[in-house]
Amino acid sequence: MQSGGSCIGPSRKRRAQDDKRALIVAYTFPKLTDYSDRELAEAVEQFRLALKTESSEIDQEVYDPALTPAVRQDLLKKFRDRWLGRKSGLFGQLNNLWLKNAPPDRKKHVGQFINQVKQADLPQVEQFVEERDLIAPQSSDAIRSLQVFDDVTTESGVDITLPGIRRPIGAEHPVIKTMHEIVSVFQKLGYSVAEGPVVETDYYNFEALNFPPNHPARDTQDTLFIAGQQAKPQRERLLLRTHTSPVQIRTMEKMHPPLRIVIPGQVHRNDPPDASHSPMFHQIEGLAVDTNITFGDLKGTLDHAMKALFGSSVKTHFRPSFFPFTEPSAEMFVSCFICGGSGRRGAEPCRPCKQTGWIEILGCGMVDPNVFEFVKENGYDPKKISGFAFGMGADRIALLKYGVDDIQLFFQGDVRFLGQFS
Ligand code: PHE
Repeated sequence: MQSGGSCIGPSRKRRAQDDKRALIVAYTFPKLTDYSDRELAEAVEQFRLALKTESSEIDQEVYDPALTPAVRQDLLKKFRDRWLGRKSGLFGQLNNLWLKNAPPDRKKHVGQFINQVKQADLPQVEQFVEERDLIAPQSSDAIRSLQVFDDVTTESGVDITLPGIRRPIGAEHPVIKTMHEIVSVFQKLGYSVAEGPVVETDYYNFEALNFPPNHPARDTQDTLFIAGQQAKPQRERLLLRTHTSPVQIRTMEKMHPPLRIVIPGQVHRNDPPDASHSPMFHQIEGLAVDTNITFGDLKGTLDHAMKALFGSSVKTHFRPSFFPFTEPSAEMFVSCFICGGSGRRGAEPCRPCKQTGWIEILGCGMVDPNVFEFVKENGYDPKKISGFAFGMGADRIALLKYGVDDIQLFFQGDVRFLGQFS
């Protein structure tokens, strides 16, 4: 510190000493005698001072990378019990110690006063604890990364080591995390990432994917259409894409073969929300086009990807299916990685695979020559090239991976749920 300069806060060492002192003189409730407004105001000031001191002590400790997560969690638990504990917490005791002993004619007033204090302070303390609850289980490296500055006092005399407003570090959303994992498996195989718009035209979502004009998927049952499009020709009408497949066409329009892409993105369908459905969800699409691509390539690629995602012991299984834009088409199943394919968990039936030992993961197939016709001018002559495509639901995979039983939890934004994925 510059001589003569003023420091707006004590140095780290001083603070450490102050903290120790504060710990020794732990706060206890003062006895009230006349319950006058003045006495109450002073008592609350003391109470708040103690709260402030103890919470900044906690901040000193919680952000100390030398502590193990267990010790950090324990410290936080003690603080939470001390202030917020249901029976013996200091906030709870305000009623016991101040209200109960108040003279009868002051009771109502004291009660209102205590309520005001609680309303003003309690939510803040709860938030304080909640935020640090997210930090507590972190490793020392993660904690250290929060601390940019060492013990430095700037020339202006401002101690920049004083704690600022700490924001808890967030966690990657489980669905996004799953999507990143899936994408990276394919990136390692040489695939690039392609993206496209969520608001799509009928042409890309249906027509160029070989959906016949009256295909039931165009029906409002499944598709969410943008309002006021009736005046336009059908192919130009806007809708919320019902799958990521339109990006196959968009990419083939821009890039010549050979092509290997994965397409992560949001899609919408007119499904009422329940534990396994959401009108908005996520897909990851894949497309490989080259000369001589065969169904064997499709099977080998997807089998590898499933082993990389769910463990090397999973098996894959293909069943014939139908999609307008692939021929032949298949649904791919993986052996249940929860029960190991047995359909049972001990004496219990395995719920995720509905006791079948298999979990349906994706739709796939060889790109239908009719689809290539729409992009033929760009080098996609169905007589010369072939390709395979697949599409999977990322949310469903995340549900299975993390053992979550309600898809709605992914989209409610509750930090108590999301914080568990940090
Ligand atoms: N688009 C299909 C769906 O949403 C999945 C799929 C993609 C199937 C690519 C085959 C090929 O159900």
